[in-house]
Amino acid sequence: MSNFNEIKEKIAELKRELSAVIVAHNYQRPEVQDIADFVGDSLELARQCVEVDAQIIVFCGVRFMAETAAILNPARTVLLSEGSAGCPLADMINIDDLRQWKQRYPRASVVAYVNSSAEVKAESDICCTSANGVKVVESVANNDILFVPDQNLGHFISTQTKKNIILYPGFCYVHHRITPEQVRLARRLHPDAQVLVHPECRPEVVALADAALSTSQMLRYAKASSHNSFIIGTEEGILHGLRQQNPEKSFYLISNGQICTDMKKTTLETLARTMELRQNIVTVPEEVRLKAKQAVDRMLAVS
Ligand code: 13P
Ligand code: SF4
Repeated sequence: MSNFNEIKEKIAELKRELSAVIVAHNYQRPEVQDIADFVGDSLELARQCVEVDAQIIVFCGVRFMAETAAILNPARTVLLSEGSAGCPLADMINIDDLRQWKQRYPRASVVAYVNSSAEVKAESDICCTSANGVKVVESVANNDILFVPDQNLGHFISTQTKKNIILYPGFCYVHHRITPEQVRLARRLHPDAQVLVHPECRPEVVALADAALSTSQMLRYAKASSHNSFIIGTEEGILHGLRQQNPEKSFYLISNGQICTDMKKTTLETLARTMELRQNIVTVPEEVRLKAKQAVDRMLAVS
């Protein structure tokens, strides 16, 4: 038996032993997505974690996603498949930064992208994901919104609403480094293709795209579309789902730098080790969890 099959069997055995459920983000490695019970975008994974009744949730993704699971479902043990997998965008704002910005804009309501720490969520009025940002912002009564930490998602939302959106200057390096020149070149190479980008891309890149979508929205869009080829502006892990669900269609990346190092830290080996040793348990202090849960629950209620 190959090592690959052995490790897959071991994970299946550990899953039974722990009565665990494995959830994975759309950016995970193909073999990790294939072994998961559920694959989705941040919003779908958050929803899934509310419903899970398995004892242990093994989260294949990055820390803020596992924290969201721990915030929503404290009765379960949440294991992060790779303990060091973080999100550099989420790390661009800490609780002190947010408190300073709140002092600068005391009348604004705070909308926090879920790509943020539990502490930042706890200090915010409501959370959003890339799938529901416009709906969430529209649901806030206040006209002034302090949006943290992703400036590009915040800008994208500001183009879809009349609210006054104050942008915090965070960004995701994977999306921010995609340039308009690269989009133009990709279009020249594949003139019949539709360009689908994530709203974490720069405004100049979003402006050149046919649609700005969350990762799962991209999967649904490509499946429903009558087009046969697509140029993709998000992390390359999404290609696995796109190609699996649309074997007859073609998908190209805008550039070759679309790799999130932290998302790729999880391998079948790290997943098996985490489950075997029941390590990388993600917990959130109760007083932080309760406040963060309010912000996440408000988001789930409007989307
Ligand atoms: P989605 O919510 O669209 O899956 O995106 C999460 C993310 O980390 C984007 O970089
Ligand atoms: Fe964070 Fe960007 Fe990686 Fe998404 S792709 S997890 S925003 S660093």
